[in-house]
Amino acid sequence: MLQNKRILLIISGGIAAYKCLELIRRLREQGAAVRCVLTKSATEFVTPLSVAALSGDKVYGDLFSLTDEHEMGHIHLSRDADLLIVVPATANILARMAQGIADDLATTVLLATDKKVMAAPSMNVRMWEHDSTVSNLENLRRRGIEILGPDSGDMACGEFGEGRMVEPAEILAAIQAHFKDDGRLSGLRALVTSGPTHEPIDPVRYIANRSSGKQGHAIASALARLGADTTLITGPTREHDPSKVEVVHVETAREMLAACENALPTDIAVCAAAVSDWRVTQEADQKIKKDGSEPSLSLTENPDILRTLSQPGNDRPRLVVGFAAETGDVIEKAVPKRKTKGCDWIVANDVSPGTGTFGGDANQVHLITETGSESWPQMSKQEVADMLVRRIADHLHPPAAAE
Ligand code: C5P
Repeated sequence: MLQNKRILLIISGGIAAYKCLELIRRLREQGAAVRCVLTKSATEFVTPLSVAALSGDKVYGDLFSLTDEHEMGHIHLSRDADLLIVVPATANILARMAQGIADDLATTVLLATDKKVMAAPSMNVRMWEHDSTVSNLENLRRRGIEILGPDSGDMACGEFGEGRMVEPAEILAAIQAHFKDDGRLSGLRALVTSGPTHEPIDPVRYIANRSSGKQGHAIASALARLGADTTLITGPTREHDPSKVEVVHVETAREMLAACENALPTDIAVCAAAVSDWRVTQEADQKIKKDGSEPSLSLTENPDILRTLSQPGNDRPRLVVGFAAETGDVIEKAVPKRKTKGCDWIVANDVSPGTGTFGGDANQVHLITETGSESWPQMSKQEVADMLVRRIADHLHPPAAAE
């Protein structure tokens, strides 16, 4: 059932747009609230009136309409949804999504959202196989957009091949699968560290690292989506605060540790931050001036937050997960780290130059637990987060026991 789930359905202008009507009906039968945005060309295939009648809501379409923006701006449309799905997704809207073009309400909402996005492509086989579409799809998948289908078969244009939109029943099944874990972590508390730390040298300079915070933020979002009461403790990043997460912004490792201790007790701790190993022993209170000499910095080791949280005691979270960013023999280096840190699991990844892990959208990780290590395929950071959090839920509430 999709009781109380809010689906934002974006309908673009393809021949398969009529199938949306059945999808809306089925979603509502399952208890979902469906709000629809139509592109201008979608209105050539389905009428706003039939979409409004079936969804039981006003239909949105015009970015520059005073009423639409007044009643429900593009930011609110995404904020008030649990999932965005583009059905059908034409080659054109996929290209605009891939390039971040926001020239109508539909694409502006898609650019403004931090929610999960799915898309069901629908187009002629030659358009589907065109290099542009292939690279746009690659780009969208890497960013975590879930692509449903397409199927092969006879097409409205008289050709045969891949590009036919998957049936509404299959789209409904994918939406149900997306929500199936929801609530599995409700009643539990989680803390996540993310991003780099900044260790001041003087009032204007600091030591930092290349961490973007994308992986840690995605994990916090995924934990919250499964119902955990989640606190994200983050160093300075360009990431937005995830919704439904309490976010504490810090700069230094010592501030991060204090914020973590403040968030305890929790059931789950995931330390994804790239904490600076050292801080400057004596921060200068004035900007250090050039005077022709070669200045040197004396460094002091920072507290190890993961090790501290892993220490046995009443406040120890039931599951502590660390990360190991390594170069070279990633698994061999990460396995002993689980023991030295005292944590339960380690997520190890290769951050060698050229992997694009630092700052990029994709990640290839190995999960190291007490029973051994397993390598996951290359995925978007959002997919890594979803899979890790599902594993956390299985560990804390084994599926059989959850029945
Ligand atoms: O020792 P290393 O930095 O390789 O360990 C990485 C793991 O330890 C990550 O989970 C990171 O968040 C955590 N860590 C920490 N505090 C530190 C250094 C690392 O929590 N001072």
